[in-house]
Amino acid sequence: MARTEPIKAVRGVRDILPAEMPLWRAAQQGAAEVGRRFGYEEIITPILEHAELIERVGEDTDAVAKELYRFDDRGGRNLALRPEATAGVVRAYFEGGLNQGPQPSRLYLFGPMFRYDRPQKGRYRQFFQFNVEAIGSAAAGLDAEVIELASEWLHQVGLQDLRLELNSIGDGKCRPAYLERLKAYYRPLKSQLHGDCQLRLERNPLRLLDCKVPQCQPFKADAPRITDHLCDECAAHWAVVRRLLEGAGIEYQHNPYLVRGLDYYTRTVFEFYPGGAKGQQDALASGGRYDGLAEAEGWPSTPGVGFAGGLDRVTELMAAKGEEVAISPPADVLVLPDGDLAVEAAEVARICRAVRSTAVDYEPKSLTAKMRSANKLGAKFVVLLTPEDAARRTARLRDMSSGEQTDLAWVELPTRLA
Ligand code: HAM
Repeated sequence: MARTEPIKAVRGVRDILPAEMPLWRAAQQGAAEVGRRFGYEEIITPILEHAELIERVGEDTDAVAKELYRFDDRGGRNLALRPEATAGVVRAYFEGGLNQGPQPSRLYLFGPMFRYDRPQKGRYRQFFQFNVEAIGSAAAGLDAEVIELASEWLHQVGLQDLRLELNSIGDGKCRPAYLERLKAYYRPLKSQLHGDCQLRLERNPLRLLDCKVPQCQPFKADAPRITDHLCDECAAHWAVVRRLLEGAGIEYQHNPYLVRGLDYYTRTVFEFYPGGAKGQQDALASGGRYDGLAEAEGWPSTPGVGFAGGLDRVTELMAAKGEEVAISPPADVLVLPDGDLAVEAAEVARICRAVRSTAVDYEPKSLTAKMRSANKLGAKFVVLLTPEDAARRTARLRDMSSGEQTDLAWVELPTRLA
């Protein structure tokens, strides 16, 4: 038979191995805890959505235009693996009748997202987000609330050194006139811009501001700034958000070039970076207000604001900082049968599990070899079982930290281990 290569994971996706889980658990539990502290409730939405839902809300968005995992299912439906969660959460808010309840709906969600981007460190084709959305209110208080929630979460998981960038990109009322100004400024410079930016100039001029290509940088400083051209309502909103953040003691930098990669944003946009980092792929959490999203999906016009934190990046940074997380052994108790005692060992394990996590070493190895792996695994107790013990329904319990050993009946195990 021809030998075949073992089949490896798909490019750009990865396994999160048990050794990484303590940090992931800490990041997720911290997120859920902070979410609940702010009065947010958990929601789970599907990974599969109609491609149209995603496309309608972001035709000019890279995550949609170039990076969408899109396919036809067996029934010929055009589906997508969600590249982000906000479009789906807004859909669920209406479909699930949350729009009929008290407003705003405060929701949080964990789950995988998919983008067909060029993989690199911190950028994956399947990655995990902690998503927070407040839907059904236009109050500036909520913009500041979700920013404060993000900040508390990152602090809680040990990431204190952060940079928060903030901007307002106006709304449907003031942005069109601003975009005309921006285009008028850039048109005479068109031939000096790099290829993509030449296309953006007419199609999506806002993105000229967050271009990272060196040849486009010199023109930014003199470009008109949207915060100088907001309508009265957007200007008032922008002022309240900043005042609230100052009141909360949250430091931010106004970055007039921050426009975000998704099309649905209005007014507030923000990104959290590790202190000292530069470059978009380093954002740990980012979001903003999306007052036009519901309508773009075909629902009644409804404001919302939120953010998503990247769990891959957050846990990578926690690991790099040597964040201490209590690592517990896979099982507190290991049952070590000496010989062919699978049935008896399984029964002893069942008794122990009433009070502690317990596993059995079923391998055909010597007791010495089994003791060695129990040590490696960090077991707190081992239960040694010989054929003579098994016949009498007794065992020898060893406390691995003190070395103390006790012979006892199986029925005594729960009280001794508790
Ligand atoms: P986003 O900026 O596209 O926003 O993604 C949010 C976060 O997800 C980023 O700050 C980053 O930490 C992480 N992330 C994005 N792409 C990748 C990737 N390829 N690999 C690893 N991590 C990644 C959104 O998704 C919006 N839905 C956020 C939002 C919620 N806005 C309002 N509500």
